Amino acid sequence: MILDGKKTSEKRLALLAEKIEESGLYPRLATVLVGEDPASQLYVRMKHKACERVGIGSIGVELDAGASTQDVLDAVHRLNDDPMISGILVQLPLPKQIDTHAVIEAVDPMKDVDGFHPTNLGRLFSGSPLFSPCTPLGVMTLLSEYGIDPAGKNTVVVGRSIEVGRPMAALLTNADATVTIAHSKTIDLASITQRAEILVAAVGRPRFVTAEMVGWGATVIDIGTNYDENGKLCGDVDFAMVETKAGAITPVPGGVGPMTIATLMENTFAAEKLRSCGPLV
Ligand code: GUN
Repeated sequence: MILDGKKTSEKRLALLAEKIEESGLYPRLATVLVGEDPASQLYVRMKHKACERVGIGSIGVELDAGASTQDVLDAVHRLNDDPMISGILVQLPLPKQIDTHAVIEAVDPMKDVDGFHPTNLGRLFSGSPLFSPCTPLGVMTLLSEYGIDPAGKNTVVVGRSIEVGRPMAALLTNADATVTIAHSKTIDLASITQRAEILVAAVGRPRFVTAEMVGWGATVIDIGTNYDENGKLCGDVDFAMVETKAGAITPVPGGVGPMTIATLMENTFAAEKLRSCGPLV
């Protein structure tokens, strides 16, 4: 079975557009883009386009590649204080002269639709999430839409990044899965991944997960967006080989990517509902 993230995200976006219209609210997303990295520019454009589709207003703040940490902090503080803005997304990676942690920590946790602020990660890890990172939350939605319940299952997440691997493990734990986090230093990785009923690859290496690493009938989630040596877009999973063994698998493109954007839209609507209801007590 192919887990079609494109189709599922379209369905979720259509539903969200209806909910936003019924609510009478007008959510607004602010993106902050520093520099001119073409991939980041493309991602930000895609996010603005998705906003337009569902009835979310969007503004883009662009700073030049030489901006200082203070320049970015000033932009974030202005957006925090702007009552018209529901959610803030600072596109990563930031240029290397910028203190990324300081920027992430400057975002008001109530507007942190990326879910990267330590308060939001802490809430996620303590089992009472406010905003969860969009990619792993999008994976949970995709599993749920296909009736795949992680409860009690042996799940393996390969990758331990703050943006994906760790929050993915927390979401699966909160959903009662048995979770192993593996990574580049894991000894005998294949023996661990073979036992996974749900295998999540978030390593950022083209076709890293081969058929030998996957058990028969496993659900395989591919979070990678890579380009191979021929410049072809591919995931972290060797799709052609693994597809023959997996029970369910996400393609790249058309798998997790569209779910990330749909989840960002859902988080932004949630942020507007929070904003319009006043601070949580
Ligand atoms: N860069 C790559 N993925 C992401 C994401 O989900 N959020 C942000 N802010 N930057 C990214």
